[in-house]
Amino acid sequence: MKYLIGSDIGTSGTKTVLFDTAGNVIASSTVEYPMYQPQNGWAEQDPNDWWNAVARTIKNVVEESGVDNADIAGVGLSGQMHSLVMLDEAGKVLRKAILWCDQRTAKECEEITEKVGRERLIEITANPALTGFTASKILWVRNNEPEIYAKCRHILLAKDYVRYMLTGEFATEVSDASGMQLLDVPNRCWSDEVLEKLDIDKSMLGKVYESPEVTGYITAEASKLTGLKEGTPVVGGAGDNAAASVGTGVVVDGKAFTTIGTSGVVYAHSSKIAIDPKGRVHTFCCAVPGCWHVMGVTLGAGLSLKWFRDNFCNEEKLTAEGMGVDPYYLMDKQAERVPIGSNRLVYLPYIMGERTPHLDPDCRGVFFGLSAIHTKYDMLRSVMEGVTFSQRDSVEILREMGLTINEMMACGGGGSSPLWRQMLADTFNCDVKTVKSKEGPALGVALLAGVGAGIYESVEKACEAVIETNAPQSPIPGNPEKYEKVYQVYHALYPSLKENYKQLASI
Ligand code: XUL
Repeated sequence: MKYLIGSDIGTSGTKTVLFDTAGNVIASSTVEYPMYQPQNGWAEQDPNDWWNAVARTIKNVVEESGVDNADIAGVGLSGQMHSLVMLDEAGKVLRKAILWCDQRTAKECEEITEKVGRERLIEITANPALTGFTASKILWVRNNEPEIYAKCRHILLAKDYVRYMLTGEFATEVSDASGMQLLDVPNRCWSDEVLEKLDIDKSMLGKVYESPEVTGYITAEASKLTGLKEGTPVVGGAGDNAAASVGTGVVVDGKAFTTIGTSGVVYAHSSKIAIDPKGRVHTFCCAVPGCWHVMGVTLGAGLSLKWFRDNFCNEEKLTAEGMGVDPYYLMDKQAERVPIGSNRLVYLPYIMGERTPHLDPDCRGVFFGLSAIHTKYDMLRSVMEGVTFSQRDSVEILREMGLTINEMMACGGGGSSPLWRQMLADTFNCDVKTVKSKEGPALGVALLAGVGAGIYESVEKACEAVIETNAPQSPIPGNPEKYEKVYQVYHALYPSLKENYKQLASI
């Protein structure tokens, strides 16, 4: 019997899962770590926390499962995208990582647009300059911490730093590299033109692989720390969204998924490159060699609900603890009792600024229509509805680009809420399904490891063999029309507030 490991280095924690080759979970382990927000709109994490979490969780699953480590055929890594890790000559971390949701780089985005040209940048990197992406973070360090930049010899993403610790290799793969804004996305290689114009030394970047390719092998030192056998192959893996697409079987045209995790994503597979000339959605290489995906991102999706839980739902937290259930379960039950439209209350989920469709680091969250009749539960439901509407914005753009969506999968923490899934089905006006396995990105990269290790013939074949879906949830007659009216109000609010957001940010 052979086994595969998938490790997902997320923003709230790292989850490592050991699977058999049929995709069954044999053992699973999660370790959480903090996110630092030294200023409004900034977000950082310590790469050592990621590495310690990966080493510990791999050790846990190897020990708990009792499997012979010689039977572990490969390791796949997934993780939060875009987050910048800088290492010195000796491979030591130079500063905390600047994360995907950090919004400090508006000035550097202007610098990138000016140096490369907006149209040319979209042609090469398939995206306009974005505060979330890695290139602007590199320039921010160069502009604001020149002494650190001068010592920097290696630039890596979260999972690629972990790869370095596991294998000693400086490498990345096409899906995550696409989010650095330094990759020639149509041609799947670093862009010499962008690197030259931004004056970034190519030797600082890792070697680019396709996602299922073997990028290195577990070193003797990593073997001691993780319990893995020295020489176990580590494949490219994928950024968390491309990894989730494999873990949900979204690897052929017509398939799409919606995630509600900390951030929210609407993701569609595409065997041909499709770029939004307005840059409102991202086009990245995906984990299927030679294919791409298009996705829209809501920065404050699950984060909005977590913020609401932590600030307003202490009572639910205590009751949930007493009942031995998740507080989100109780919050769902409360939100279910509020009618569609939250009694005319509309929430804009821009608590970390927004990417799709506004690309605006300065916008912030809003409760619109707040009245003395409203209760905390109206606010709770409106948070869930607002996140859903922001994802509808992404669906509209994908449809406008001519991408067909025949099957929409729901995943992430929010995807496990039946109420939230119904909101998605009613608001997108299409069937929404879930997959039987709850392991999304971890399963996705374990399957990629299986392809790299020769267990499955291809990514598509791996998904055919392993991924099973549950019965779909369909729109409830009458509901789409009710949501549509509220969505129209939601949709009109950002343009009305755009200038006020700028004013607020300048105070
Ligand atoms: C994608 C993005 C987020 C992070 C979160 O572009 O920024 O989905 O990958 O983990």
